[in-house]
Amino acid sequence: MITRDAIRYTRIPLTHGSGALPAVGFGTLIPDPLVTKQAVKTALEVGFRHFDCAERYRNEEAVGDAMQEVFKAGAIKREDVFVTTKLWNTNHRPERVRAAFDASRRRLRIDYVDCYVIHTPFAFRPGDEQDPRDEHGQVVYDSGVTLVETWRALEGLVGGGQCKSIGLADVTLERLQEIVAVSRIKPAVVQVETHPYLPEWGLLDFCREHGIVVQAFAPLGHALEPKIVDDPVITAIAKRIAKTPAQVALAWAVQRGTAFLTTSTTLGHIQENFEISALPEDAMREIRDDITTSVRFNSVVGTGVPGFIPRSR
Ligand SMILES: NC(=O)c1ccc[n+]([C@@H]2O[C@H](COP(=O)([O-])OP(=O)(O)OC[C@H]3O[C@@H](n4cnc5c(N)ncnc54)[C@H](OP(=O)(O)O)[C@@H]3O)[C@@H](O)[C@H]2O)c1
Repeated sequence: MITRDAIRYTRIPLTHGSGALPAVGFGTLIPDPLVTKQAVKTALEVGFRHFDCAERYRNEEAVGDAMQEVFKAGAIKREDVFVTTKLWNTNHRPERVRAAFDASRRRLRIDYVDCYVIHTPFAFRPGDEQDPRDEHGQVVYDSGVTLVETWRALEGLVGGGQCKSIGLADVTLERLQEIVAVSRIKPAVVQVETHPYLPEWGLLDFCREHGIVVQAFAPLGHALEPKIVDDPVITAIAKRIAKTPAQVALAWAVQRGTAFLTTSTTLGHIQENFEISALPEDAMREIRDDITTSVRFNSVVGTGVPGFIPRSR
């Protein structure tokens, strides 16, 4: 019998790549490595099987340690887990891509990455400084490489077994169309900010049409104001179906066909975010039609500068 709880185990087969992406995902943008490690272990224990990482988060070792400890305990195996990690802006030059990919694998202590994603479409000055700035404090971009050239380098990683799929993040629909038009291997996933206050229906339609999975980051709006969990439409549905507002927003994300990446360092929230159940159709309609608030919380899509990561890091 299919129950309403089955959606928490939804797996989305990848059209452009091997494997399937668990729709319920856990993001690892957590500043403290010890807290990261504990959060990842807890997330694995409560049922998350999809983890989003990045060299820019500077905590891949902590994620790797957590996964190794859980794998060693025996109940969960590497192949049960889908791991995404991301190429940072300072490594867009094709000759830097393989080394950045291998370094992420080494830090995460995994032989293969399920999906390797270009973190933003903006190339920064190549080098070890992740946030290169000029004397006026302005970001130093790199005009010596195009997104298509970086994409070609990612295509070159696929096929040897170490990289199962590739994707893009923080792209507009126009940038995505550009890559789809010229790619040998199309993006398996596109990771963008999307939630009830930024539904991105146009991007979602394009992705559906081209077999690309949308990974929704900030599905709870990064807990910023105006808070999605306080939205009157969401809270009324939550009350009606005896779930929390966060569970309503996350179930909506899965039911409309995206995967989500939520992050929490609070045990109760990690468990709550996994324990989603399907929404009735009228609730799906109300979220689509009755919410008029429109907010983008993260400006990374316009600059390549990550809005939720403190600048000094
Ligand atoms: N591609 C990109 O440029 C990009 C940018 C940003 C993020 N990401 C990815 O997306 C992931 C998620 O982003 P996000 O942190 O913005 O996600 P989010 O889940 O929208 O926001 C996380 C915030 O919501 C709170 N929260 C979590 N569960 C809650 C619940 N059940 N009830 C109430 N509050 C709750 C958390 O606080 P507590 O810790 O107290 O629970 C935390 O402050 C990141 O970790 C990263 O992997 C990618």
